[in-house]
Amino acid sequence: MAGTESRDRPPAAVDYRSLVSDDRVHGSLYHDPAVFDDEMEAIFTRGWAFVGHESEVPNPGDWVSRRLGREPVLLTRHRSGAVHVVANRCSHRGTALCWAAKGTANRFQCNYHAWTFDLDGTLVAVPYPAGFDRSKDELGLDRPGQVESYRGFVFANLDGSAGPLATHLGEGGTGLIDRLCDLSPTGRIDVSRGWIGHKVSSNWKMWPESDNDGYHLNWVHASMVDATPDTYYNETVLGGETGNQSRAVDWGDGHVELDFRPSYQRALAWLGTTADRVPGYCQALEQARGPERAHRLLWDGPPHALVFPNLFLGEMNLAIIEPVSPTEMVHWHTAVQLEGVDDAFNARLRRQSEAAMGPAAFIVPDDAVTAERIQGALAGARPGWAASGRGWLDVSRGARREQAGPRGERAALVSDETTNRGFWRQYRRVMASRLAPPTGGPTYGGAA
Ligand code: FES
Ligand SMILES: [Fe+2]
Repeated sequence: MAGTESRDRPPAAVDYRSLVSDDRVHGSLYHDPAVFDDEMEAIFTRGWAFVGHESEVPNPGDWVSRRLGREPVLLTRHRSGAVHVVANRCSHRGTALCWAAKGTANRFQCNYHAWTFDLDGTLVAVPYPAGFDRSKDELGLDRPGQVESYRGFVFANLDGSAGPLATHLGEGGTGLIDRLCDLSPTGRIDVSRGWIGHKVSSNWKMWPESDNDGYHLNWVHASMVDATPDTYYNETVLGGETGNQSRAVDWGDGHVELDFRPSYQRALAWLGTTADRVPGYCQALEQARGPERAHRLLWDGPPHALVFPNLFLGEMNLAIIEPVSPTEMVHWHTAVQLEGVDDAFNARLRRQSEAAMGPAAFIVPDDAVTAERIQGALAGARPGWAASGRGWLDVSRGARREQAGPRGERAALVSDETTNRGFWRQYRRVMASRLAPPTGGPTYGGAA
């Protein structure tokens, strides 16, 4: 963001190459405040992160409040129709402009001295302006150096140094987003029905890991298995390690997936229904995509995947992983709704989301308890322990079973830790390279 400060301590004080290897990671990475500072810089300031979806701000004046690392931002829809990301922080003396999660406004007016900003961050009015020597043009809200969207998913790079979004997403990331959006007859999804946040006393990185961990379901989610023995999880991810055909996939660049497609035994298994019970949806999709492609989509369903670093495509849920501090995070989720289908179909998606992800549901609360237990158990791990072999976490499962796929991905059994390794491989690359001392080229920390 314009005005982002440079680091206030020597770069790369933590040796990430020594704390993350191909098959293990060090426990200190989950609670060391210096590591958290580095992550906010390397991942959430110098890299691309997901902000929100265009469907959340459908009309001019709509805005939603988010955090990009530590930076509070607003995703807005301007009268021109353009979507903007601006700092939720008055450029006069720093007051937060919006306190609610979302709203609609013609302008943002600061409640301290009433400076008024347009939805794109331009400063449009200042009371008693004669006292200021600076031009209003210089005093707009901070804006990320780069904002781009892909199929309605808006990403931002605060300091503007990250290169094109297409490079960050790669074919792996765009392919995952495509597979979700293509399930909509119009090609567009809608995630404007509201978000639920689980505040968890754990480090944020446990969630890219556990959301895409195919090894834990039989145990952490045993109550779900007992209560709902007929869900598609039985076919796709439960049971013995060779009991299904699902795969743990590393698509590269930190984008990882539990790919259930090879396990489905029928169309719409992922929705817990059959084509004859949702004929309107099936017909709409066939009309939009043709019978062959529609059949494939109905069979394959949505991905279960992480788009690095903070977007979880949780089948028909979206989740945002929001770091708060080294030991706190918020796991936000919302139901994916499809455009071009009737509300009864979308209501089914909402009910399914509530049962899986909500506060009284099966999945996230159990994962939250597990994450907090891990966090507590790692509290003593120090970086200095690494050399003596203490405090390491093993992510080696299935490494020797990994195989290269046709699109360059690596894949192994769904219960293998290929997804964890994929996340950590990107983490190590980003942390080691983006925090390296400057070499005399352009310096980070200020966007044009
Ligand atoms: S702090 Fe916003 S107008 Fe003064
Ligand atoms: Fe889980």
